[in-house]
Amino acid sequence: MVGPRGRGSNMAAIASACLRGEIPASVSMVIASAAGSGALDVAQQLGISTKVVVPGEQYGPRLLEALEGCDWLCLAGFLRILPTEVLDHFPNRVLNIHPSLLPKFGGKGMYGHHVHEAVLAAGESESGCTVHLVNERYDDGMIILQKKCAVLPDDSPDVLAARVLVLEHLAYPEALTKVIRDRSR
Ligand code: GRF
Repeated sequence: MVGPRGRGSNMAAIASACLRGEIPASVSMVIASAAGSGALDVAQQLGISTKVVVPGEQYGPRLLEALEGCDWLCLAGFLRILPTEVLDHFPNRVLNIHPSLLPKFGGKGMYGHHVHEAVLAAGESESGCTVHLVNERYDDGMIILQKKCAVLPDDSPDVLAARVLVLEHLAYPEALTKVIRDRSR
């Protein structure tokens, strides 16, 4: 599931890893919260079916209907708290990726460049990404895995974001494989 400004790069990393047989799953659909999401174009180029489910009245039931047949949900650039009925329907089966080493630099309003600006302002020597289970709070669920990189003296938020994004594309497929394997044991 992707948000309005999603580029779809994590979704593409997951879908490609599935196609290469590296994740024991396939991406059955991409759901965006707004029609303009760039991730929808990426999904269509990859031959993945897409849906747009816009938040509002009866969002939970509409999402559940759209998610029919899915076993796992992966959020990537999806900036909202999921409705309770969706979380209840997929217990411990909703994942998110965040571009910092949680619990640092997470929470409401901490997304995109805000995260990397905060990391640089805090003078951190390392950053990275976190794949975690999703609950009813922002960036709060159990951590599945993290990948770290250095923060360099001359980093701008964009440069740091690009370094972290490389790690994200490795971390999400790895984390998804781990949770699926653990669940099927
Ligand atoms: C990623 O940086 C992810 O960590 C955050 O939103 C961004 C989504 O990027 N949650 P993309 O759409 O996957 O390229």
